[in-house]
Amino acid sequence: MGIIFDKENKLLTLHTEHSTYQMQVDPYGFLQHLYYGDRLDTEDMSYLRMNFDRACAGNPDEAYPSRTVSANTMPQEYTGYGVGDYRINSIAVQNGDGSYAADFRYEKHEIRPGKYSIPGLPAAYANGGEAETLVVTLKDPVTDLKAELYYGVFEKKDVITRAVRLINEGEKPLRLLKAASLCVDFPYGNWDSIHFHGKHALEKQMERSPLGHLVKTVGSNRGTSSHQQNPFVILCDHEAGEDHGAAYGFMLVYSGGFKAELERDQFDSVRVVMGLQDDAFCWTLDKGETFFTPEVLMSYAGNGLTPLSHNYHRLIRENICRGKYKNARRPILINNWEATYFDFNEESILKIADEAADLGIEMLVLDDGWFGVRNSDNTGLGDWFVNAEKIPCGLRALAQQVNARGLKFGLWIEPEMVNEESQLYRKHPEWALQVPGRRPVRSRNQLVLDMSRQDVRDYLFDSISKILRENPIAYIKWDMNRSISDMYSVMLQAEHQGEVAHRYILGLYDFMGKLTETFPDILFEGCSGGGARFDAGILYYSPQIWCSDDTDPIHRLNIQYGTSFGYPSSTVGAHVSAAPNHQTGRTTQINTRGVVAMSGTFGYELDPGKLSDEDKQQIRKQISSFKKYYSLIRSGRYYRLTAPHQNYYMAWEFAAEDGSEALMNIVYTDPQPNPTLVHVKWKGLEADALYRVESKSSEEDGSFVHFGNPEEADRYEKRSETYTGRALMQGGYTLPWLLGDYPAIQIHIVKA
Ligand code: GLA
Repeated sequence: MGIIFDKENKLLTLHTEHSTYQMQVDPYGFLQHLYYGDRLDTEDMSYLRMNFDRACAGNPDEAYPSRTVSANTMPQEYTGYGVGDYRINSIAVQNGDGSYAADFRYEKHEIRPGKYSIPGLPAAYANGGEAETLVVTLKDPVTDLKAELYYGVFEKKDVITRAVRLINEGEKPLRLLKAASLCVDFPYGNWDSIHFHGKHALEKQMERSPLGHLVKTVGSNRGTSSHQQNPFVILCDHEAGEDHGAAYGFMLVYSGGFKAELERDQFDSVRVVMGLQDDAFCWTLDKGETFFTPEVLMSYAGNGLTPLSHNYHRLIRENICRGKYKNARRPILINNWEATYFDFNEESILKIADEAADLGIEMLVLDDGWFGVRNSDNTGLGDWFVNAEKIPCGLRALAQQVNARGLKFGLWIEPEMVNEESQLYRKHPEWALQVPGRRPVRSRNQLVLDMSRQDVRDYLFDSISKILRENPIAYIKWDMNRSISDMYSVMLQAEHQGEVAHRYILGLYDFMGKLTETFPDILFEGCSGGGARFDAGILYYSPQIWCSDDTDPIHRLNIQYGTSFGYPSSTVGAHVSAAPNHQTGRTTQINTRGVVAMSGTFGYELDPGKLSDEDKQQIRKQISSFKKYYSLIRSGRYYRLTAPHQNYYMAWEFAAEDGSEALMNIVYTDPQPNPTLVHVKWKGLEADALYRVESKSSEEDGSFVHFGNPEEADRYEKRSETYTGRALMQGGYTLPWLLGDYPAIQIHIVKA
């Protein structure tokens, strides 16, 4: 059983297979946090709590005359506000009488089978009876504001989810100025924090630093989860590495503005608070109304960052992603964006389809520019009907012709946006977010539709579902190409304007939910100028997200490395694009581009008509390799074997859960003269099993192996390679000296 209540000691304990989380109701009714770490048995961890008379730490009235009880030093599950805890708080509230205060005490709790869900918001779901829910109700006895703390325990998956429901049971309306989803205190330890920052075309760069005596904030106020920071943070032992040390993850299931705060206080206690962005947030709760926060996925691994990542990979694949393509293999696609940009017509698209079919590609995706008057990014957004000038035969006939070539047909949309140069804006200028009396901020020359409005969502649903109904569409790329500003909705009263950012996301989820449920056979891929909305919220509606507009494989190595800490490769949109690369001008071999894109959803984004015959040959091979490795890449355990800039190569591996096979991937990011040899240790194999090197790709593509003498080359080529898992994991494997334009090798081993 995952959730246990010890009545006598008022202990609430949550067990997962490898972790335990414990809290206790103290004599004054505070819900104190006791422990989160390696799995315990029946221990009561309250002995860890020490109360001292600390200077400048206020004491609650009930404890009088004791000066040792203080909210400012106690580890809490959800803090109050304005009542003596000076650290970062979980909530900020202005009450009906104007006061800024909340002070919670335990009222009751309930243990329920199954996993709670959150109305209107994405959340992890249970398959069968794999999860349990704990709801602890806290109450402010003065205002009657209730905080129901939700804990979802996925025992076998080592994940505990958190969310909070706030209920105004008082007589007067109150204003929530902050409503975090989780608060966890770590009274002891020496911690580093890890976050994933970036920018457009270089997302999720991993950054790790010791946690100093300050509040570190990771967040976004852009109305999207953002390129700049991903809603995922890790707290780990200063000494922790991939395979050792305690590591805790906190991932928000949300696609809008967010805030994660990590504070190391005066006594070295660390507090993590995560939830909605509170900048310009103000949510009015009238009498009887409730507010549900988004969910945070919390996980602990006592043995390093790799197992922590595995916990998230598994949970996202199995408990966040949904629908037909949750498990089905997704078609290998070609997208015309980098091949044509806006400059295409029926003919050029069909030419790409011809070439793609010949290469074995399975789907053609028509990107931006097929609708309205859209010949650049200045016009047309909002007009979701075909551009007859570019596609005179109509979308249906075009899709059918693509289908006739043996390819499925996919389409790009950006429903949340409008250009002023569009029929939609001329008809409904009031549908765009804008602050009264001010000209709205343009970005990529577009404005943002007010997704909190039902009429806007109805228009979008009608116009987009018409396209999906009338045309044989197998895939949708759902883009969103700007940060949001001008957060004002004409539909809301002045006192509700602080709700717009969150209402936008609720509206978005409502619309995404409706569209994906109405068209269950369509594969949806999220996108936001690349990876500005790469988060678990979007993954609830689309099982993959375009990871970055940077398709340079050498940059992609770092982007995909950062992404791999929280997200499985099955979610990572990745394509082979042209060389020289359009974003960086760098030339890499097609083999290298293939190896990197294969660690994601895999597809192409180039003009196949411009490829050499050799490259085409390579592509055919890549496609058959990807099919062969598909389930290993999709559900194998992912191991980061190097970190960016640590070496002159990057290496990562997929190992089957049952130890039957593994795939090593190595890219030489800075080929060396007279090098230290590349040497990697395999992971996740069965020590006693014998593994045969089944294939090694590929020196046939312009790179060449430098041995210095032919005998050694001959020996390398001809050696019969069978090793024990133990040898490969402990002794490792040495790779040849490769030269060329960023060469790459894939080594596939199978149990002999
Ligand atoms: C965004 C996407 C690209 C492409 C363009 C089209 O930048 O990330 O992949 O679809 O929009 O305008």
